Amino acid sequence: MSTVRDDFMRHLAQTSEAPIGLEIDRAEGAWIYTADGRRYLDFIAGIGVSALGHGNAAILSAISAQARRHLHVMVYGEYIIDVQARLAARLAELLPAGLGRIYFTNSGAEAIEGALKTARKHTGRAGTVAFNGAYHGDTMAALALMGNPAFRAPFEPLPGPVRHLPYNDVGALEAIDETIAAVVIEPVQAEGGVRIPDRNFMMALRERCYRTGAVLIFDEVLTGFGRTGRLFAIEHFGVVPDIVVLAKALGGGLPLGAFCGGDELIGKLSRNPPLGHITTFGGHPLSCAAGLAALEELVDGRWWEAARRAGDRIRAEVNGFGGSEIVAVRGLGLLVGIEFAQPPLAHRFVAETIARGVIVNWTLNADRVVRLAPPLTINDAEIEFGLDAMRAALEAVRAGA
Ligand SMILES: Cc1ncc(COP(=O)(O)O)c(C=O)c1O
Repeated sequence: MSTVRDDFMRHLAQTSEAPIGLEIDRAEGAWIYTADGRRYLDFIAGIGVSALGHGNAAILSAISAQARRHLHVMVYGEYIIDVQARLAARLAELLPAGLGRIYFTNSGAEAIEGALKTARKHTGRAGTVAFNGAYHGDTMAALALMGNPAFRAPFEPLPGPVRHLPYNDVGALEAIDETIAAVVIEPVQAEGGVRIPDRNFMMALRERCYRTGAVLIFDEVLTGFGRTGRLFAIEHFGVVPDIVVLAKALGGGLPLGAFCGGDELIGKLSRNPPLGHITTFGGHPLSCAAGLAALEELVDGRWWEAARRAGDRIRAEVNGFGGSEIVAVRGLGLLVGIEFAQPPLAHRFVAETIARGVIVNWTLNADRVVRLAPPLTINDAEIEFGLDAMRAALEAVRAGA
């Protein structure tokens, strides 16, 4: 009989030639346990999903209570499903005013697609502006926004027209004009190498979109739910977009995305034609039950404050590692980027860190930058373990240089 690893290699579609390939047994808190009896500290939280760690008791009990009542009953938007409506209402309470109409999807990319359709219908325009370094997902329209031409090129022509502007460059915003339906931006670029824009830039962007009538879409798929030290990263910049896109931690570990905006804007999807944007599984009852429990846990524990403290500590300690390999350490809350002088140094650092039992990875559109995004609930001893592993990994990279 074949091993699970054989089946994985032979029959699962592969996304790269070098998967991490850990065979997962179970996961609990900040730890992932593998079939060979080892354990790994999850310093990326499943890429920002498991904000409260793995196996949170409140989330698990909400899932099992919901599973006993009902699973799927009808496409999103037809029946009244209490967990869906309650989660929408809770999000509306917690998001800035004016973003209280929620459309649930299955994933981040699907929410981006829905937001783009809404902006087109609202403005009657076709153009989109995105930013160099951006990542918004891998479906066709989301991929068209990707701020790295190498990932777009093999799939072109992609839905357009899309203009890519430099991130954090106020002067470039003049390219946003009356042909633009939507401007899509991450409040902190994660896959772009953990880049944090200036408040002035975000304010100028808001102003430019008001002036030209372009719909401003904030992609908070990775930055939402406490990751950056605030409940939403929007709060760092003092501007409110027209649409905010959520996913990842939204579902508490189950698949769930959403785009949220004002009544008039999101209402455009219910008329001319009706049912112009529908989804079978978006807003699945299990995902909404998990998401609602996760949101209450997050708010009750004010976990974004813990994220801020933990992030400050990690950045300070990594800054103290010294040497010439690391050229910058930056981040907000528990979204931390460690920039290396060259990509191979970052790649070796990742391999050496994983070999020491701590999972980290580099970012898609800036592969010199290693990203840390541990669960917000990570404790001091676990942070210490992660820092020790990274310190030793850096020494191994140096020794092998
Ligand atoms: C900022 C951002 N937007 C959108 C997406 C796409 O989300 P999904 O993978 O759920 O389609 C991601 C995924 O990593 C992301 O980081």
